[in-house]
Amino acid sequence: MKVELKDGIYWVGAVDWNVRDFHGYSTHKGTTYNAYLVMGGKIALVDTVKAPFYEEMLERIKEIVPPDRISYLIVNHVEMDHSGSLPLVKKALPKVEVLCSPRAEEELKLHYGTEIALTVVKTGDILELGGKSLTFVEVPMVHWPDSMVSYIKEDKVLLPNDAFGHHIASAERFDDELGWEVILPEAAKYYANIVMPYGPQVLKALDALRGIDIEVIGPSHGIIWRKYIPQIVTTYERWAKGETEERALIVYDTMWGSTEKMARAIYRGITEEGVPTKLYRLSITDKSDIVKEVLEARGLLIGSPTLNNGLFPSVAEFSTYIKGLRPKGRKAVAFGSYGWGGGAIKALMADLQTAGMEVLEELQVKFVPDAEALTRCEDLGRRVAQRIKKS
Ligand code: FEO
Repeated sequence: MKVELKDGIYWVGAVDWNVRDFHGYSTHKGTTYNAYLVMGGKIALVDTVKAPFYEEMLERIKEIVPPDRISYLIVNHVEMDHSGSLPLVKKALPKVEVLCSPRAEEELKLHYGTEIALTVVKTGDILELGGKSLTFVEVPMVHWPDSMVSYIKEDKVLLPNDAFGHHIASAERFDDELGWEVILPEAAKYYANIVMPYGPQVLKALDALRGIDIEVIGPSHGIIWRKYIPQIVTTYERWAKGETEERALIVYDTMWGSTEKMARAIYRGITEEGVPTKLYRLSITDKSDIVKEVLEARGLLIGSPTLNNGLFPSVAEFSTYIKGLRPKGRKAVAFGSYGWGGGAIKALMADLQTAGMEVLEELQVKFVPDAEALTRCEDLGRRVAQRIKKS
């Protein structure tokens, strides 16, 4: 079945129903790799798909046009979920001219060698197809330094690659077919786990796109936006600015239950103050699902027992992950139980500070928390709630 975004612009991507791990990010609902065919007098293929899905893309193209009529391949982004089929396309269609950003030129050579000829395009460059044209805008770090978007002004269609994407495999191809409520949680998880460190670059990209008339957005993952464009653009702006809501997240792991007792007492303190709070044990809950909750929570309280003078391994993994994602400005607390030397809280505090959070306080309890220690945990929860409410 042909999927047409606008007259002469087709989705020719692939649906990956089975992927459950996307470089460490859990994709419970699978994903899609979206490629697009833009048919003017000449024909351009915008992006490809992950290499194992090349044949699926080719079959979709064949439904629309003989592949040897394609003149151009636009590489909006080098990451292999999009450029993976480039060598296969070039092998099958050697006359196709490959266009990419200056940074992509360097990176494509490091992925696929120097034999593939590349034409470099920069922000503002226009590829005339005849009746349709592609305008390129570089958007570095959304998601890699090479990233750019392609815009078809004649049809008001934006093809922004990773931006506005989400990991959902579905038979539906458009946002109005799947619904905002279904897409939003996946878009949030995607933003939190992939895009969160690049908020300033996202704002710059949104600025560059301001004033451009957009009726359809075809991202490189998930459904195509045509109904909820104002909603997703506004939501991206809010996420990129790091705006949070009045709620807290307690993330912990535990060896013999002591750090868990502390977590639950802190939870009581915060919720008694009326701040909605979620509690996750790391050895049970997937870390990329937790990170989705970090996106909009104002308070982040992380608990770790001390093991061998350092962090408990599951907390160390989460702490390293969150340090890289840099959810700046969150109000943070480190807490946990220890036996003799301690060490976990010191390591945690360092990671929270490196992540750019506002570290409010720390709390350690030796071995098992007694009633007095649990009261201190509840009091801490109440103080944190007050700080969350004041912001
Ligand atoms: Fe979907 Fe950065 O690749």
